[in-house]
Amino acid sequence: MVSMESTGDWITEFFIDKGWLFGEVLRAHRERGVEEARLIAELLEKHGVLRGSNVIELGCGNGRVGVPLAKEGYRVACLDISKEYVREALKYAQSIGVGDRVKGVVGDAWKVDELVEEKYNAVLMVWTTLIGYRGSPESDIELLSRIRRITVSGGKLFILRHVDRDVVVARNAQCRIDIVTSDFRDLLVIERPRFDPVTSILENIWTYYRKRGDELEFLGKASFKIRIYTVTELVDIALRAGWRLEALYGSLNQDPFIPGRTNVNAVFT
Ligand SMILES: C[S@@+](CC[C@H](N)C(=O)[O-])C[C@H]1O[C@@H](n2cnc3c(N)ncnc32)[C@H](O)[C@@H]1O
Repeated sequence: MVSMESTGDWITEFFIDKGWLFGEVLRAHRERGVEEARLIAELLEKHGVLRGSNVIELGCGNGRVGVPLAKEGYRVACLDISKEYVREALKYAQSIGVGDRVKGVVGDAWKVDELVEEKYNAVLMVWTTLIGYRGSPESDIELLSRIRRITVSGGKLFILRHVDRDVVVARNAQCRIDIVTSDFRDLLVIERPRFDPVTSILENIWTYYRKRGDELEFLGKASFKIRIYTVTELVDIALRAGWRLEALYGSLNQDPFIPGRTNVNAVFT
């Protein structure tokens, strides 16, 4: 059984001490971020967050989504615990001419209400970010409560491309997945996921290799450990932090949500 204790410790190792490894993955996803930002802009508008509004992306990584979102017309604060990722996001913003519309914030999202003074029309978390990282529903309720304090009245919370526990359970029911290989251009990541249905903790060891012709050069290894939720549980956690579900989609394209098949794209108010 995977222990539920101290699941937060992995964050420093995965995103800071060995953060350059995941940084390579983020870089490989940069082009995809432009398309995601376009779809997110449509979603924001559909839910009344119009271009020109103030939004904050928590756990923004290298700004692959937040920066192109500024290009779509939003004023974006990019917050991340890694100062290297935030630095990269700001450089990216300068390079595409939106430096004046992107602000970088370095710090722990669990202290977001102490880190920023402004209030935002929308808060975004993209790609299974933050929720579940500390391993307990209580910690997620705390995070979502703090987020509420930095949101304008009637503001929105977007939890996008978030893993759904039902998907992981359905996959494990079809076949036991011991190894997954993920190909990111010149990078190959071997994943060793382990899911504990009792604690709902998903642990995954990522081994990173650089492709050198026919050879693979070992770069390093890092693991993460997150608690995953069914959509029912996620909505309940949000409710306990004062958020009400406004809409649920299966993708950024606004396809229907299908339990066990799609990931979670939830809009709260
Ligand atoms: C899975 S990545 C997603 C990055 C980005 N949202 C994207 O879609 O590319 C999670 C991000 O959350 C950041 N992060 C992890 N724990 C954090 C914390 N406590 N406070 C702020 N950022 C955190 C990591 O550094 C990383 O950039």
